Amino acid sequence: MSSFDDAVAVVTGAGSGIGRTTALEFADRGASVVVADVDVDGGEETVSRITNAGGDATFVKTDVTDPEQTQAMVDAAVETYGRLDYAFNNAGIGGEQAPVADYPTDQWEAVIDVNLVGVFNCVKAQIARLQEQDAGGVIVNNASVLGKVGFETSSGYAAAKHGVLGLTKTAALETADSDVRVNAVCPGFIETPLLEEGGITSDPEVREQIEGRHAMNRLGRPEEVATAVAWLCSDEASFVTGEALDVDGGYLSQ
Ligand code: NAI
Repeated sequence: MSSFDDAVAVVTGAGSGIGRTTALEFADRGASVVVADVDVDGGEETVSRITNAGGDATFVKTDVTDPEQTQAMVDAAVETYGRLDYAFNNAGIGGEQAPVADYPTDQWEAVIDVNLVGVFNCVKAQIARLQEQDAGGVIVNNASVLGKVGFETSSGYAAAKHGVLGLTKTAALETADSDVRVNAVCPGFIETPLLEEGGITSDPEVREQIEGRHAMNRLGRPEEVATAVAWLCSDEASFVTGEALDVDGGYLSQ
């Protein structure tokens, strides 16, 4: 397991699910972690779990749709820990589920705002800081298998996640000569509160149908995404940039 001793990581959406588990993974490997989330209770719970385990973390309330707040999040990392090394831009919502013809425009805008504009706001502030430090760094964006294929009733979500991959590849090209790497993960369906809210894990029939879309015939665990993110951040992935890494139990291989 690679060590992130003396490193500083920012994780958005770290108050729940994949973000929380990845914040714990970064801390477990020795990084100081800025836990960013719009949900105060969830974010503070993540910080407690990290500090109770002997790690170092700070909560910064952040709505990723607001560029002033994403800038303040990066500034807080620098003020608290002196620098920024890794960022996992993970905050996201499921969005409305409806066919395109019935998709409410305000709901379309809402999911694009969090899942795409939110990632842009974070990446923009983080690249500026990493280039100012001039010491490299790694950004990982959380896309989805739905960043590569469509999914009935989730056009807003899929469009946002496809956009995250375009942003990731472009940012990777623009930062390659400053030793900053920018990658994405594309998880399959992962057992988190998001799936509960989306009615997937709460309904046994829907759950079975979704499990069957993965070659491994099960949902993923947040830990399985967290370790992929940590690998992308590590020196073991030193020649990997602009990559959209599937962590999907074979979902996209069928
Ligand atoms: P979750 O619902 O457990 O956690 C999402 C977190 O993001 C919550 O703590 C929430 O408060 C936070 N958040 C929402 N809007 C925010 C905003 N505007 N600013 C800051 N924080 C905000 O969901 P989960 O499953 O952990 O999802 C995390 C990411 O993983 C999302 O981007 C999601 O699209 C992506 N993903 C999830 C998959 C799944 O099956 N659970 C599969 C593929 C990708």
